[in-house]
Amino acid sequence: RSVRIIGAPSDYGANRRGVDMGPSAIRYAGLADQIEATGASTTDAGDLAVPRAEERDPDRERPASGRAKFLRETREVAEELADEVADAIADGDLPLALGGDHSIAIGSLVGSARDAEVGAIWFDAHGDFNTPETSPSGNVHGMPLAAALGKDGFADMEWANATGLREENVALVGLRSLDADERADILESEMTAFTMSDIDERGLLTVVDEAIDIASRGVEGVHVSLDLDWLDPNEAPGVGTPVRGGVTYREAHAALERLADRNRADDLLRSLELVEVNPILDERNRTAEMAAELAASALGKRIL
Ligand code: ARG
Ligand code: MN
Ligand code: MN
Ligand code: MN
Repeated sequence: RSVRIIGAPSDYGANRRGVDMGPSAIRYAGLADQIEATGASTTDAGDLAVPRAEERDPDRERPASGRAKFLRETREVAEELADEVADAIADGDLPLALGGDHSIAIGSLVGSARDAEVGAIWFDAHGDFNTPETSPSGNVHGMPLAAALGKDGFADMEWANATGLREENVALVGLRSLDADERADILESEMTAFTMSDIDERGLLTVVDEAIDIASRGVEGVHVSLDLDWLDPNEAPGVGTPVRGGVTYREAHAALERLADRNRADDLLRSLELVEVNPILDERNRTAEMAAELAASALGKRIL
């Protein structure tokens, strides 16, 4: 299967300029070459046309209840990305979306789950399960899982709902920062959430194997969403919402190598995304380099 790279240079979900340069930085870090070194072929669909932030007003499209900034722009990007992702899958390719902030995952999930039951693995420090009502920030990058699953406030936004995705098939890995209501909603949901403590107690590979089991049970394929703030900020400083205590360089590679091994056996990977790389906050592009390297590990890179 050929890997189709799709840039989604949106920062509307993060209220923070710079993350829109993520696709460029990850490509510059040698993404295509690194993937091709695994034996896979790549094509690059270029970047989605994202409206310019300076021309938009964050308050204009606030919903009646709660707050979610730039929802109209987020929708434009999500709809475009969903079509691109679904198109890649229909053509037999593996879509690899490059963010942009994590709000682009709405589009990836909707596209991946179009006409199919899918699961999702969410490598992240955060739960991204806020709704416009519970979000303390109003930033949609803290809401994509709630949006895709059609939770309160998103239930009637059809464009945001990934109809083929069920909570039972969602596994979050690496959590260490949740908002109060978001935490309660995750506990109440049917999703499975693995915190950093779970990784400490049970070991990374045990947790990753269980996440893969959960996400792949009874579905056609799995969407893997990798927020670079999953890693410890010492390894990946170029992110907008860093949280101490994340996974190490070696743990991150080990997790994605395990995913590649399981994919080799069961062909479970349906779509992939790398989000939240912000070159303005980065050190000499090392977070983008990390993203490119981790994609290669997920797609089968091996030393021997
Ligand atoms: N929970 C916080 C919020 O809702 C932070 C979300 C961070 N999300 C991310 N994809 N980096 O604003
Ligand atoms: Mn096509
Ligand atoms: Mn995060
Ligand atoms: Mn995230």
